Amino acid sequence: MTGIRVLTGDRPTGPLHIGHYFGSLRNRVRLQRQGAELFVVIADYQVLTDRDVAENLPEYVEELLLDYLAVGIDPAASTIFTHSHVASLNQLLLPLLSLVSVAELRRNPTVKEEIAASRQARVSGLMFTYPVHQAADILFCGADVVPVGRDQLPHLELTRLLARRFNERYGQLFTEPEPLLGEAPALLGIDGRKMSKSRGNAIALGADEYETANLIRRAKTDSERVITYEPERRPEVASLVLLAALCQDRRPEDVAEEVGDGGAGRLKAVVTEALNEHLRPIRARRADLARDRGELRRILREGHKRANAVADRTLDAVRDRMGMTYL
Ligand code: TRP
Repeated sequence: MTGIRVLTGDRPTGPLHIGHYFGSLRNRVRLQRQGAELFVVIADYQVLTDRDVAENLPEYVEELLLDYLAVGIDPAASTIFTHSHVASLNQLLLPLLSLVSVAELRRNPTVKEEIAASRQARVSGLMFTYPVHQAADILFCGADVVPVGRDQLPHLELTRLLARRFNERYGQLFTEPEPLLGEAPALLGIDGRKMSKSRGNAIALGADEYETANLIRRAKTDSERVITYEPERRPEVASLVLLAALCQDRRPEDVAEEVGDGGAGRLKAVVTEALNEHLRPIRARRADLARDRGELRRILREGHKRANAVADRTLDAVRDRMGMTYL
């Protein structure tokens, strides 16, 4: 992994939850520990794809930063930055847009789903073009690997296409990045649907132990007494079993067997204990970090400085290839 560059990111729309943690954050830290150079974009412009105004940005950016640092992303080895503070990254959008047709933008299946789920009456131009902007996130730093969920694969395909087209038209410059699919464990929200910040069914990484216990107590289960691990037939129960197993680094089958005829009540007690125990050091670090706003600002400023240096260099090379050197 040494010498490998990895880019990932999140939209600042609220604090991250345990689905993000087990699905993605832990992988990032693992890659970092293996020696990869990590770039993490806090995608503030991307918030504007499905709403008119991005609310509470300062608060949400800080929450993301706290989540990253608490789980072990090391600001000395990794670069954490926001879209809005890296001007050259945003300028890359223009040449990249020239490489793609409107028909291709319209075909993106993830964008189609997001339009269907959008809270806006009208679809903005940013909704159709944000995958190209996301390609700029990835290409500006020459990322080799992008850890993503399945929904992001169309964006990765587009990024590879744009890199290829640029290289064909203007000469070799961009690396074609590879997606790294996490074995994203299918953790459901407490209502049994996909866990999501916007659905209010998630357990935030930074929630306290009492709140965590309350949420798990309300989690949907089923009417069968004996606890088993059958993800297809009993998705809600299986999700709780899996959560305990992930926390304790055990096989879900073993967790289910141990709870057995203790039923849903016993299962929830086990899950609550396992999750609170697992997250205790992370939450303690998060609380410590939250007390030092100055340090958080310093970390973000340093991330911006590093990302800008990399983006400026890439933009220079792009202008050079495109014949835009006048001075
Ligand atoms: N689209 C991603 C999400 O909604 C966030 C993101 C922005 C991203 N830029 C990225 C992910 C670049 C991977 C690579 O979660």
